[in-house]
Amino acid sequence: LADQSISEDELLADPVEKIMAVGGTGHPAIAAPADLFQPERTNSIGIDLDDAVILQETAAQIARPVQLDKQTTVAPEGAVTKALAAYPAWSNTPLDERADCLERLADLLETHRSRLMAILVQEARKTIPDALSEVREAIDFCRYYAARARTDLCAVELPGPTGERNILRHEGRGVWVAIAPWNFPLAIFLGQVAAALVTGNTVVAKPAPQTPAIGQFAVALAHEAGVPEDVLQIVTGGGDVGAALTADVRIAGVVFTGSVPTAKAIARNLLADDARPLVPLIAETGGLNAMIVDSTALSEQVVRDIIISGFQSAGQRCSALRLLLLQEDIAEHTLEMLRGAMDMLNVGDPADPATDIGPVIDQDSYDKLMAYRAEVKDRIVHAIDVPAQGLFVPPTVIRLDNLDDLNREWFGPLVHVATWKAGELEATVARVNAKGFGLTMGLHSRIAGSSALVENLARVGNLYINRSMIGAVVGSQPFGGEGLSGTGPKAGGPHYLYRFCAERTTSVDT
Ligand code: NAD
Ligand code: ALA
Repeated sequence: LADQSISEDELLADPVEKIMAVGGTGHPAIAAPADLFQPERTNSIGIDLDDAVILQETAAQIARPVQLDKQTTVAPEGAVTKALAAYPAWSNTPLDERADCLERLADLLETHRSRLMAILVQEARKTIPDALSEVREAIDFCRYYAARARTDLCAVELPGPTGERNILRHEGRGVWVAIAPWNFPLAIFLGQVAAALVTGNTVVAKPAPQTPAIGQFAVALAHEAGVPEDVLQIVTGGGDVGAALTADVRIAGVVFTGSVPTAKAIARNLLADDARPLVPLIAETGGLNAMIVDSTALSEQVVRDIIISGFQSAGQRCSALRLLLLQEDIAEHTLEMLRGAMDMLNVGDPADPATDIGPVIDQDSYDKLMAYRAEVKDRIVHAIDVPAQGLFVPPTVIRLDNLDDLNREWFGPLVHVATWKAGELEATVARVNAKGFGLTMGLHSRIAGSSALVENLARVGNLYINRSMIGAVVGSQPFGGEGLSGTGPKAGGPHYLYRFCAERTTSVDT
């Protein structure tokens, strides 16, 4: 795009088809919940009529280099000091004014959509459809939390005996540290920040070291939207900076999304000093997500959903399919169809609107995934060709002879496949549960009893039946796991904001 190698006609005709085909998040278009959103502006999964325009604007923005603003980088300790000083005034700012800030931020995200998309393509190596759906999700988070705050955080009067008044209030806790991953460096980053701000906290936010520029741009937009600079600060850097922030005994909470080992390191850090107060940790982590397919499933739909769930975003979603469990009777047929569908995927430059799957995030990730592929090369069922230059990991299906051989998340386009026999559905779910993760699970079955059984047994935060298992929609599919996959509460859900609040009850003898 940057070198104009795609003609304007191609830009206008093909890419729109392509985005329609790939879908913002792989979810069929539905209306966003009308009571909380303004649907025409906030649907994170529908396709706007002006997408051809967005593509042209994004193409122009991709030609501009991403600038990192070194001026905004401050030391962790100094940022916490400023955030503490800013806390009293911000927590006393009326709730409606804080919610107004989030709505203005959502407007600004819309205004700057193409620039944000371009940075996501350049810095996070997102494909254009993925970048578009991420910007929409960020907008949804801002509007959803603003709307929820207005309805949920008001003081409530509780019953008591005559002559007694009981009031429950939800208030900020203090300074929250927000730590985000690189794979949703706008939506998750801003989702954490928006929730902490609207509940009356001040925030020190740390983006992932791979994606600082999109975080800086988002914070600059939040300031433009009216959030005071000391109320929201960004500190860039890697794990050492995150560790310094979470070691600071003055902070009131941590909201983290990333890997399981980092979540555990943060939890240890928060408990290391006996004298420090107990503070909440919201941790959303990885998964070892299975899709179970029985012999009644519709093959075409199953194959489409495996492709979307396993390979979209180069498999770099916490929700992505890692373990495909096919009923023995349909395994060969399904794999045959899957090979054909995989061969049609277009792996390449994320800035090209025709690309289905881009590169992985960095050399380290590429090296780890490729080393693992080499280790299991005798069990590769199918893989497709990818460009020789660049960090392209071939989308690959790997046979698993023993379920016990897979116990960790491989964060890339690698899907493991194993079979189960008729009558083993319950045992199969139990074996997945036993792995200890609990993020997403998929089921493809037309038997109502099987759906009910899996719904009852699955220990996951998000169960998807007869559809893909990625692309949770804010307000419709509150997202987050259990066990090794997270602490809850679920992002984009009705209980998320409460965790950022101190609940205080006042009882008065009148
Ligand atoms: P990561 O754990 O390596 O890093 C995440 C963030 O934590 C980064 O900002 C990093 O700098 C910081 N960090 C690293 N060490 C730290 C420490 N000791 N103390 C404090 N902060 C520290 O994860 P990643 O590679 O950026 O992201 C990929 C992982 O995130 C995958 O495991 C994926 O499944 C998970 N993820 C989960 C969700 C979810 O909602 N459950 C969403 C997206 C990604
Ligand atoms: N919320 C993202 C998804 O559902 C991670 O795919």
